[in-house]
Amino acid sequence: MDDALIAAARAAQANAHAPYSGFPVGAALEAEDGAVFVGANVENASFGLTNCAERVAVGAAVAAGRRRFTRLVVVTTVNPPAAPCGACRQVLAEFGDGLVVDAVGPDGRRRWTMADLLPDRFGPEDLATSRAARAGRRKE
Ligand code: THU
Repeated sequence: MDDALIAAARAAQANAHAPYSGFPVGAALEAEDGAVFVGANVENASFGLTNCAERVAVGAAVAAGRRRFTRLVVVTTVNPPAAPCGACRQVLAEFGDGLVVDAVGPDGRRRWTMADLLPDRFGPEDLATSRAARAGRRKE
């Protein structure tokens, strides 16, 4: 049975602009305050400029002032349901590794956390460590 977040991702998937791949993707990202932001993949005749559904949803959420997220649903047309690509994993991991990610296909579901999808991520903490090290060197 679909919950509201899955329904939102399905509705976004119906708006995907995917004429080149024929692979429509819908995403729905829930913020800690319950607000939901959707994305669909947006392809381009210059193929490399394609944006994935997940990153479109993250952009919408951040533009609306949200940076803390609880759950992401990604809807594709395949079985097993497709997991977020590597680029999207890195972008999602920027906002923490506890996010629950549900992939939904026509027949099946898969669930991970961001820590499962991108272990040992490069994140904001790494830059903070580098800044602290540089500040320490300047004082010497
Ligand atoms: N795509 C997504 O929207 N999300 C992913 O995580 C994987 C791939 C899109 C990009 C492209 O429009 C199509 O799926 C085929 O790669």
